[in-house]
Amino acid sequence: MTKVGVIGLGMGQAHLKGYSDIADVEILGIADIDPRRLSTCAEQYRIKHALADYRDLLALPGLEAVSVCLPNHLHGPVTVEALKAGLHVLVEKPMAKSVADAQSMVDAAEATGKTLAVSLNYRWSLQPESFFLKQLIERGQFGEIYYVRTQSLRRRTSMPATSWFRQKQLSGGAAARDMGPHMLDLAMWLADDYNAERVSGETRTMIMTDSDVDDFAAGLIHLTGGCTIMLESTWASFTKPACAVSVFGSKGGAILDLAASKENRLTLYGKEGDTYVETHPVEVLLAEPPEPSIQAHFVNCLRTGRTPDTSAERGLAEMKVLDALYGSSEQRREIVIT
Ligand SMILES: NC(=O)c1ccc[n+]([C@@H]2O[C@H](COP(=O)([O-])OP(=O)(O)OC[C@H]3O[C@@H](n4cnc5c(N)ncnc54)[C@H](O)[C@@H]3O)[C@@H](O)[C@H]2O)c1
Repeated sequence: MTKVGVIGLGMGQAHLKGYSDIADVEILGIADIDPRRLSTCAEQYRIKHALADYRDLLALPGLEAVSVCLPNHLHGPVTVEALKAGLHVLVEKPMAKSVADAQSMVDAAEATGKTLAVSLNYRWSLQPESFFLKQLIERGQFGEIYYVRTQSLRRRTSMPATSWFRQKQLSGGAAARDMGPHMLDLAMWLADDYNAERVSGETRTMIMTDSDVDDFAAGLIHLTGGCTIMLESTWASFTKPACAVSVFGSKGGAILDLAASKENRLTLYGKEGDTYVETHPVEVLLAEPPEPSIQAHFVNCLRTGRTPDTSAERGLAEMKVLDALYGSSEQRREIVIT
């Protein structure tokens, strides 16, 4: 039996669902300062320990791992506390509010020998199409992958004006910081390269002028292996909403449309003889089905000693790209990542 806890019960509710679907996992406790969320979740999942102070959760005897699903500025300090308390941690995205925080989390994981994973869950939520696309790339069907374009375009955010999401000091940013980690993770995973060399970016606050976070972000990210990523994200804009990843290869390409219905989620582009073709897989069957959720992946890694696919090191690499994107915009120059 693996005993887990969840801190923060907004997105934390998805973690409760993920853990509750795994055999031999007990959700030993939850923590939140909101008593209503605490009692609703405790009742729904029949959880013994529902605590206002997350430190009481960290001290529960027998607890092995926690999900940290708090506002971004708390990811760093609470994750470090949990690791030092001897727990493995699955922390929500963005890994932290800044590279400095993310580095302290990686250091704490190394010092304690505990597993730290980042909840970059899209490849699991978008399965099997996401894993099928990865498989086609690995088999060489698209040739060399030289460009991945990501778009996460919202007309307007649903976050109320008072939300911590709209305060830079608490969130670390919006258009780039919030959706950037998901899109960057998909792009780097598909390009099979987590090492960025240089970043040129632009972030603006053009519409959400009642807040100090970016509502527009665009960045060109050059990976050491030669692939270039385009990241486009808006939290407010006058455009058609979109959420998609396009893969450009020397022999073919694909679009993974995160907003489309399941049957239209993946489009493949290629050539049959002299004819250019566009196809949709109608039923994707993978020889080895992936774990059903990021929580299942995390628990399997704890049980087998495997390094999570969304490891702390990869999370840190992505944080460096996002900080460089903001830095590039502020300094009006390309940033070389060291
Ligand atoms: N992976 C995804 O797809 C996804 C989706 C949504 C949100 N998120 C991430 O999840 C995190 C939380 O976002 P959210 O939408 O759930 O926000 P939220 O504001 O709805 O929830 C945060 C919860 O943390 C609680 N909290 C705040 N400070 C606390 C403290 N000191 N001790 C205990 N509890 C405290 C709040 O009461 C609240 O219930 C963010 O980092 C966000 O980026 C990820």
